[in-house]
Amino acid sequence: MSTFPLPTEELSKRAFEPCSLVIFGATGDLTHRKLIPALYHLALENSFSSSSLKVIGVARRDKSNHEFREELKNSLSKFSRSGVDELLWEQFSSTISYHRMEFDDLEGYLQLAKKLEEYESAHQLPANRLFYFAVAPHQFEVILKHLKESKLSRSREKGWTRVVLEKPFGTNLETARDLNKLVHDSFPESSTYRIDHYLGKETAQNIMMLRFANPIFESLWNAQHIHHVQITAAESMGVEGRAGYYDQAGALRDMVQNHLLQLFTLIAMEPPARIDDHAIRNEKVNVLKSLRPLHGQDVFNNVVRAQYGEGFFNNEKLLGYKNESAVASDSLTETYVALHLSLENQRWRGVPFFIRSGKRMPQSLTEIVITFKSSSTHLFSTQGGCFPANTLVMRMQPHEGISLNFLVKNPASKFSIQPVSMDFDYEHSFRKPNPEAYERLLFDVIHGDPTLFARGDEVEEAWTFIDGIQRAWSTSSKDLTSYPSGTWGPEAAHLLLQKHGASWREAAPEHF
Ligand code: BG6
Repeated sequence: MSTFPLPTEELSKRAFEPCSLVIFGATGDLTHRKLIPALYHLALENSFSSSSLKVIGVARRDKSNHEFREELKNSLSKFSRSGVDELLWEQFSSTISYHRMEFDDLEGYLQLAKKLEEYESAHQLPANRLFYFAVAPHQFEVILKHLKESKLSRSREKGWTRVVLEKPFGTNLETARDLNKLVHDSFPESSTYRIDHYLGKETAQNIMMLRFANPIFESLWNAQHIHHVQITAAESMGVEGRAGYYDQAGALRDMVQNHLLQLFTLIAMEPPARIDDHAIRNEKVNVLKSLRPLHGQDVFNNVVRAQYGEGFFNNEKLLGYKNESAVASDSLTETYVALHLSLENQRWRGVPFFIRSGKRMPQSLTEIVITFKSSSTHLFSTQGGCFPANTLVMRMQPHEGISLNFLVKNPASKFSIQPVSMDFDYEHSFRKPNPEAYERLLFDVIHGDPTLFARGDEVEEAWTFIDGIQRAWSTSSKDLTSYPSGTWGPEAAHLLLQKHGASWREAAPEHF
């Protein structure tokens, strides 16, 4: 048994729990860009031995183990955050094999079961099995049914069986409910892990810590002190070859239903009774239940949608969304959405929450901004009038970190006030890059911790809210506007905040 030279620090110094990971969709982008690099880094940083993890890639194309490993190595060299160490790769890749089969062929699953049993008995390992669905959602059903039929979905006497599902989890409430039923027909909720990679990002994980470990923030975390909250996920990229999927989804379903509502619940939730997945996810569901639903005209007053048009980025001329290949010339799909949300609970009554997400923005920027109310005493109001409010900025990109912005006296003059910022930068404080979201999430699935995964009822609550908006949009598209590529979205999104005495924080500083 060979052991990797290891752990210097976290992810966690816990030994890797032995298991077999079966990846459906092994030749796809996700496996190459995210899953294998994440496993490689976990292997690097944990007490991992080459017989404690077995990775079986499942897909339809013909290829040998050797070919599969070479392809993965090639991708790893592009996507690994620390390059590829030849010796480590040799050891790590010896755990990987390829299994060719059609997803609707029972025989393929029975052979897979046989391979797993042989491996487990040869290495005297418990039958811990993880099935990862890195496939398009229309393939979920056929795989789930065959896992059940082949009895692969059953937990063995000695071991656990878990399933990981990638987004999108349904396209509306009805399809999400159907999918939940389908999954539960083969796997109990406690074995079901719905991935939302935003929850694995360090800043998202830090929200609860920041709030509940620091009385200076939590004591101000309410309608008495907070003027408004804004959550931005802006991307400079366009649809980049994903139009087939994206044109059916749009920004609301692609980003808001999952990632941004997840961040929103973490910001707005009450303290959980305990630090466990049940208590934490209950509080997140409570936030979604307190969300004021949007229907009919209310949608048009509180939600802005738009599509990117032609424009320039880094002096390069870019196509408008409707001219992208695989997008219909009369497409009504939004590539930008901005929403005003309200919570009907004691902590947040009267505090506007603004969420926006768009493609082809001037920069890739993901951040949460808490804007505090201004001082009511106006002691310094004669010294030049209106000062910027205190803000707390949690930034996921660029430069993951947290900044607190406040006012100080400028030494150059007796009463001149100047905004300054107090900054925390992960890389500077912890002296190493943060792990990728998928590293944390895979580690948690293997160790049976579902806290950072969306629960079935949570996903359904999120869809309930989103469906109200989609229904109103289906009645009229008059509100759909456009914005030039490389700009911060339509004017209407700025007016949405102006109505509440707020404005979007546009450019993040280049550095702290
Ligand atoms: C995905 C969306 O879930 O998240 C993409 O489908 C989007 O459209 C991506 O680009 C953004 O993720 P990140 O981690 O780059 O912010």
